[in-house]
Amino acid sequence: MGFDIKIVPDAMTLARTAAQQFHRVAEAAVQERGRFSVALSGGNTPRSVYSLLASEHKELPWDRIHIFFGDERHVPPDHPDSNFRMASESLLSKVPIPEKNIHRIHAELDAEAAADEYEQELVNFFYLRNHDWPRFDLIFLGLGEDGHTASLFPESKALAETSRRVAANWVEKFKTFRITLTFPVLNHAAEVVFLASGAGKAEILSEVLRPGARKYPAQSVQLENGRLLWLLDQDAGSLLRFAIPPKL
Ligand code: 6PG
Repeated sequence: MGFDIKIVPDAMTLARTAAQQFHRVAEAAVQERGRFSVALSGGNTPRSVYSLLASEHKELPWDRIHIFFGDERHVPPDHPDSNFRMASESLLSKVPIPEKNIHRIHAELDAEAAADEYEQELVNFFYLRNHDWPRFDLIFLGLGEDGHTASLFPESKALAETSRRVAANWVEKFKTFRITLTFPVLNHAAEVVFLASGAGKAEILSEVLRPGARKYPAQSVQLENGRLLWLLDQDAGSLLRFAIPPKL
């Protein structure tokens, strides 16, 4: 249940390192199981990772790669806030990935309907029965300055969700719904990589990574049987002064 931390000099190196990790995990998954399932994070940080994948990793077996989303804003896919739109502009429109391999959250629907539909998408893709959890080969996550990840925000209902795989989560601070994977799905992944860049994340990272009480949603990402990596640049990791718990 431990985690690794890797601190790299700058944002460009972080993007390059994350893209290489994606490449490594994708190649291994396709080799072993014939396909690679990854849930992409939204926000700004991963945009440069996705651009690098499009520009420097064209040779990946895109026809075997299945793209999912860790969460989505409750907006249509062409909205400026859409995580799908960001991923599409920076990556999906630039690589030969078949349309059917892009598993978009249909956030133009009513939020509950979008969550139900995405839940069914996971059931179908991962051949889930009863209370099986999907096991993504890789999930990219970001970290908000309030300690949220995906759309699992402090004091939001979905934090306590332990049976559904996808939730329509009301986020009071934005007065809007978000659609998000739930903690059990994140925690059943084979690999989760948090990407955090910039001095603005230093404070929250020093809290979230401090051993001891769990106060923030991101601290509930504790993999059942997988590898958790916090990939930070120097600015984001600048306040990590304490000993880091060894990987158990
Ligand atoms: C979203 C993300 C969210 C994001 C963090 C960090 O939909 O916005 O899923 O969890 O990863 O808010 O965002 P930045 O990378 O923009 O700092």
